[in-house]
Amino acid sequence: MGIQRTPAGHVWGGPFGPPHFVINLFEIAPRRGIIDRKQGRETREVVLLEAIDAMKTRRSIRLYEEKAVPREMIERIIDAARLAPSANNIQPWEFIVVTDPGTRKKIAGLTDYGKFIAQSGACVAVFAKDVKHYLEDGSAATENILLAAHALGLGTCWVAGYRKTYGAPVAELLGVPEGFNLVALISLGYPAERAEPHGKRDLSEVLHWERF
Ligand SMILES: Cc1cc2nc3c(=O)[nH]c(=O)nc-3n(C[C@H](O)[C@H](O)[C@H](O)COP(=O)(O)O)c2cc1C
Repeated sequence: MGIQRTPAGHVWGGPFGPPHFVINLFEIAPRRGIIDRKQGRETREVVLLEAIDAMKTRRSIRLYEEKAVPREMIERIIDAARLAPSANNIQPWEFIVVTDPGTRKKIAGLTDYGKFIAQSGACVAVFAKDVKHYLEDGSAATENILLAAHALGLGTCWVAGYRKTYGAPVAELLGVPEGFNLVALISLGYPAERAEPHGKRDLSEVLHWERF
């Protein structure tokens, strides 16, 4: 069975087994690989393909349908976020999901380039405890959110949070205690635009073997 695409852009199936949504492969396949040693290698190959496909087809979305995102979907996305790597496995992150339109409008108004947060069904504010590698840790979790949301057919855009003057007012608005830094604000919702793949630097330009 070959790889197939649904109209929403999800990838189905593959040569190794019954169809799964991308998100199912993220969640199920690693466990299967451990339990079913005979199938393990094949399963890992499928995971690789589907995960890379999600990376290849994700795009920033800045136009959203006026539609609430179901709580279960948001929980699955944040569940993926918390699995990100972090230095010494400290996991310094906290995720504040804002669905209230009034609060989203206030957040949007505070940002420089995130006015669309007022229109998306939800906004995830990624804060991290002020530990040494909080920025890398928080960024890894943020990327997990972008990919998990995309795998579920939702759109996102990473809105800068690091060292932004609006970090403190956003923290105050959301009742974040002292000692946490804003890493990112993520708009999350049903896409109302079909963003075409756009220019990424070519592999041959960025890949260096052994030396720069
Ligand atoms: C650290 C960071 C900060 C960003 N800040 C903003 C922002 O404030 N507003 C915005 O519209 N997009 C923002 N973006 C999204 C980028 O513009 C986008 O990722 C880039 O243009 C590449 O497009 P793509 O995400 O579709 O691949 C940010 C992305 C990153 C990684």
